[in-house]
Amino acid sequence: MKKLCLALSTVLIAACSAMDSERFAMEVDEPSLQSKGRLSAPLAEKEFLPPTHPLTAGAHACSFDYPPQERAAGCNRALARTINFGDMLDTPTEGLGPVLSDEFITLAKGAGFTAIRLTIRWDARADFKPPYTIDPDFFDRVDGAVKLASAQGLAVVIDMHHYAAMNTAPKSEQQRFLALWNQIAQHYRNAPATVMFELLNEPNLYLGRDMWQRVMSAALREIRASNPDRTLIVGGAPWNTLAALEQLHLPFDDRNLIVTFHYYDPIEVTHQGAEWVDGSDEWMGTAWRGSAAERQALKADFADVAQWAKVERRPIFLGEFGVYSEADDATRLAWTKAVREQAEANGFSWAYWELASKFGVLDPWTLDWREPLLQTLLPQSPVLGANARLYGRYDDR
Ligand code: BGC
Repeated sequence: MKKLCLALSTVLIAACSAMDSERFAMEVDEPSLQSKGRLSAPLAEKEFLPPTHPLTAGAHACSFDYPPQERAAGCNRALARTINFGDMLDTPTEGLGPVLSDEFITLAKGAGFTAIRLTIRWDARADFKPPYTIDPDFFDRVDGAVKLASAQGLAVVIDMHHYAAMNTAPKSEQQRFLALWNQIAQHYRNAPATVMFELLNEPNLYLGRDMWQRVMSAALREIRASNPDRTLIVGGAPWNTLAALEQLHLPFDDRNLIVTFHYYDPIEVTHQGAEWVDGSDEWMGTAWRGSAAERQALKADFADVAQWAKVERRPIFLGEFGVYSEADDATRLAWTKAVREQAEANGFSWAYWELASKFGVLDPWTLDWREPLLQTLLPQSPVLGANARLYGRYDDR
C-alpha cells in the first residue's frame, strides 16, 4: 500500500462567473496556451501513433461511433503511452512546479507519447459556496491544453487531483465534489471521445473503501447525466493500489469505464528521499536492479491485476508509476523499464509519473529529454538516437 503523506495545501478561492460550455467548441487557427487557452483547433480525432503498432492498434475505436465496450477498449489503447503532466495544474496555484506550456505538449507528442494526463486541482479553483463555481479563466487555461493536445492527436485525461478535503472530510465535502464534476462534465460535454475524465486521484484516509464506493457511484451518475457516452476512468480506495481493485464494485451496465491503478512498489525504492513521505530518508540507497526475485514480485502483482481485469472485463490503465529522482540512476532506469514492459505485456496502457518535475523525463529549463529515462519508456522514440543529447545531462542533475 502506498503510504504517502501528501501535504495539505491551502485552498484558494476563485472568482465567480457563469460557465460557458460552448466556448469549448470554438475553433480558431493557432492553438496556443500562451493565449490563456482561448484558442482552439479543429478537434478532429486524429490518428494515434502508428495505428498498426500493437500497443495502439484499436485506438480508432476511441470514438463515439463505436459501442461502449469497444470504445472503452479503444480509448485505453489511445492511452497506451501516456505522460503525466504532474505538479503543474495540481498545485494550489500555478508556478509552484513546472508551468504548463505549449512546448510541453508538442514535445510529448514529438517524443511518441500517445496521451497526456492532466492532473488538476479543481477544488483550489472553485468557490466555497454553492454553486461552487469554477473560475472561468482556469477553465480557459485547461481548455487551451485540451485543445492543443487534441489537435495534435493526443488523448487527454482530465483528472481530479489532490482534492485533500475529500480525503479528510468526505461527508461534508461530497456536495462540492459532485458540483465540481457537474461543471467539468458540462463544460467538456462536446469534447471528442479521446478526452476522458478520471473521477479522483488516490482516494485515501477517511475516503475509505465503502465511502469511496458511495461517492464514486454518485459521481458516475452526475457525470453520466451530461456525458452518457464519454469514457471514464476510475480506481480503487485506498490510494488506487492494485489491492484496492478487489473492493471496487463498478456498475455492471456501464461498460464504458477504464480501471486505473498506481504502482510504486517497493515504496522504499520508488520514494526514497521523497520529502512528503515520512521516514523516506532511511530508504536512501535502496537499489533495484531487476533480480529474479524482484522481477517475479512485479510479475505476480501485475498478473493479479490482469486476472481481476479478465474476470471483470475491464481495460486497465496504469495511471502512475515512476521512481523519485533521489534514487540512483541505475535503479530508476531498471525499475521503470521493467514496470513499463510488464504493463505492456499484460495489455495495460500506462502513464509515467511525470513529465518535468521531480520524477521528470524532461528538463523543464532546457527542454531536453533525459534520454536514458525516455528510452526506458519509449525505446523507439524519434527523438532518441541521431538527436540524442549526452548522457551526462542526466547524470549531472
Ligand atoms: C501525487 C504526487 C506524487 C506522486 C508520487 C501523485 O499522485 O500527486 O504529488 O509525487 O503521486 O508519490
